[in-house]
Amino acid sequence: MKGVILAGGTGSRLRPITHTGPKQLVPIANKPVIDYAIEDLKEAGIDDVGVIVGHVGSDEIQAHLGDGSDHGVDVTYIVQGEPLGLAHAVGCARDFVGDEPFVVYLGDDLMREGITELVADFDQETYAASIGLQEVDDPSRYGIVDVDDEGNVQLLVEKPDDPPNNLALIGIYVFTSDIFEQIDRLEPSWRGELEITEAIQGLLDDGKRIQSHTVHGWWKDTGKPEDVLHANYLVLDDIDGRIDGTVEDGAVTTGRVDLGAGSVVEAGAVVKGPVSIGENTTIGSDAYVGPYTSVGDDCELRGVHIESSVVIGESTITTERKIVDSLVGRKATIRNTEEKKPDGTRLVVGENSTLDL
Ligand code: G1P
Repeated sequence: MKGVILAGGTGSRLRPITHTGPKQLVPIANKPVIDYAIEDLKEAGIDDVGVIVGHVGSDEIQAHLGDGSDHGVDVTYIVQGEPLGLAHAVGCARDFVGDEPFVVYLGDDLMREGITELVADFDQETYAASIGLQEVDDPSRYGIVDVDDEGNVQLLVEKPDDPPNNLALIGIYVFTSDIFEQIDRLEPSWRGELEITEAIQGLLDDGKRIQSHTVHGWWKDTGKPEDVLHANYLVLDDIDGRIDGTVEDGAVTTGRVDLGAGSVVEAGAVVKGPVSIGENTTIGSDAYVGPYTSVGDDCELRGVHIESSVVIGESTITTERKIVDSLVGRKATIRNTEEKKPDGTRLVVGENSTLDL
């Protein structure tokens, strides 16, 4: 079976982070989101992977994944161009997958238990597609599925105002080539997109059957900043801790800490896991890095108290203010000013930023 990762889209809900890079490369515990999808596909026995890219971020994704050999897979890039919706993106994979069943993985989703079971269980003699489901608290944000008492899929509806239940499509699908005929028939939805949810409903309307698979481990769509922080929290909860850098005498690290090569925790600094620190980063002698924080490569943290946050990389943070629940983009500087007047907080804030002061 081949795999298809959808990595088009503009990442508008993750601005300003996505002004300078695609959302699929946002690191979760210092690993780009798309790497988790590649690993899950590989674990499910799929090593022929088509990555659907849009105009935005395509070069960065190709630079990161290359031909896939570093990740143990073969990657083929398929250009979607305009982001006209998930169904449009899947339709772009038609030549790549041919007549065989294939797996579609949304490139900004994370699943704790991977996809091996869902892929292995797919019964292509009986079903035209298989969908991964999980109960959610906010069903009007997702594609929602109605299933009868025997587990048969009855109805699919995208972001319903009045959800029939809270069973959501989690962004992992197995399709047969029947899906392409349905995609051809779609009209743009109220949000102007060709919806994969409606294409699957089309299969049902044609009398075909849809297999469903409830996924029990956590699943996270990393579309918004708070989702990135939550995904970071969930992934850090599972790390074992590994020190490749230097912890100086007099530094305190407790709990599970990943410290990349070339990074230093200076004497006097405190790092309390679970924490992931990338490569060539300095945690200065008076800094405190608290639980559920990821700090990327080439950062310098001094004087700061930071926790439950993601610092993507190449940033300098020297403020003595406490930073919590924050997402810091690349090459950011957060510092105290020496000047006393005028008194106040001086900011250079990029487009689409949110500051909770
Ligand atoms: C998409 C799908 C939706 C699904 C969700 C999972 O939503 O349209 O059916 O529940 O992914 O992450 P979107 O991320 O486009 O809002």
